[in-house]
Amino acid sequence: MTGLKIACRVCSSTTKKFLELGQQPVANRFKDDILSREEKYFLDVVFCPDCFTIQIGKCPDVANVYTDEYPFFTSSSDYMIKHFNELAEYIKRVYLPTFFPVIPGGAREPQANGFIVEIGSNDGTFLKNFTNIPHLGIEPAGNVRSEAIKNGVQCWDSFFDVGVAGAIVQSMGKADVVVSTNVFGHIPNRNSTLQGISDLLKEGGIWINEEAYLGDILEKISYDQFYNEHIFYSTVASFKQALDRHDLGIFDVDFYNVHGGSVRYFVSHKRNMSESAASKKVDHLIDVENLYSFDRLKHFAVEVKRSKHKILGQLHMIKSWGGEIVGYGASAKSTTILNYCGIDRDLIPVIYDTTKEKHHKFCPGTNIQVMPHYHFNGHNPTNVVLFIWNHASEVYKKEGFKERNWIIPIGN
Ligand code: TYD
Ligand code: ZN
Repeated sequence: MTGLKIACRVCSSTTKKFLELGQQPVANRFKDDILSREEKYFLDVVFCPDCFTIQIGKCPDVANVYTDEYPFFTSSSDYMIKHFNELAEYIKRVYLPTFFPVIPGGAREPQANGFIVEIGSNDGTFLKNFTNIPHLGIEPAGNVRSEAIKNGVQCWDSFFDVGVAGAIVQSMGKADVVVSTNVFGHIPNRNSTLQGISDLLKEGGIWINEEAYLGDILEKISYDQFYNEHIFYSTVASFKQALDRHDLGIFDVDFYNVHGGSVRYFVSHKRNMSESAASKKVDHLIDVENLYSFDRLKHFAVEVKRSKHKILGQLHMIKSWGGEIVGYGASAKSTTILNYCGIDRDLIPVIYDTTKEKHHKFCPGTNIQVMPHYHFNGHNPTNVVLFIWNHASEVYKKEGFKERNWIIPIGN
């Protein structure tokens, strides 16, 4: 347990801790062998009473996380590919300027134009939809960036901040649309990021930001969303406060059932926003969030402990009957569950996963080996802990639902 006071990364006030998830290794650093040395960090989650931001305490330096061996590829989920293709179509239709190319004798189909930037463009799954117009991905992790470049996506090797935003404006101009999905919460310097986005957007330009929503985390007791790569947890109230400091405002909000429950914010310069129905929607959502008081967060921490006892009870019971258990999906989230609950290979010897960068390695903080997903059916396991519960329908479709005893490791 850490006794030190943790200052809010947004407003510098002293935060209040509501959850301790113990010592955790770097969530996505899979070990080559059991004896590999691992750095560990206390995973404490805190609330800022002044700007309502929810964030973790200490976290590893981002330069040690988004390396050339970063093992998360957006394209690992067919469902997520479809989700981002749909977002791309929507942006083309609604937010990018269109023009009518002159094709002699041919039909004049409207085409999207303008300049789009993605922060944390990963393997280019989203930006692949924009290779015929000016676009730019910002991605510090070398291996996923190379994948995007192979897909014809233009990328810079950078961590986004106000300086990088200035460099983009200088060399490519201001952006019509900026997009970030499941990345804004991973960048420690929130004020520099927001100022950069504010500088980068054209007059009338928009920022679309999607991330896991705290309301879903509380409701589903999905404490595995807390891992040391994921620094901030989203609420409309805290997001609005942080934006306010940089002349940015929310003009619409949507919710999606991806990554365990996500919120999508539509943001523009405040100076370009009209008083509209949108502000009513935002105010209403903030009223609902007022229910996430500090007491509610402390109650959540009690539910997390209960959830740990429940899953351990279930696994020990199966073992006591002589049953075998395997895991499915060596996600970053699984690292939190394994290390918080103290689950190791005596309970779960193997976790199957599709990412070849993780195959035959060991889950951070444990001696559990990751095996290729194509061995899953050969082993034909009965009891399977579904660590990627957020991809349940995709997995059940591939692996069969009725054939197995699927165990969801979170919730009550
Ligand atoms: P995910 O929950 O998307 O993200 P995170 O790692 O941030 O928690 O999990 C990604 C992992 O799940 C990745 O290693 C690929 C794996 N995976 C499968 O093994 N099978 C699947 O069907 C899907 C969709 C993902
Ligand atoms: Zn604060």
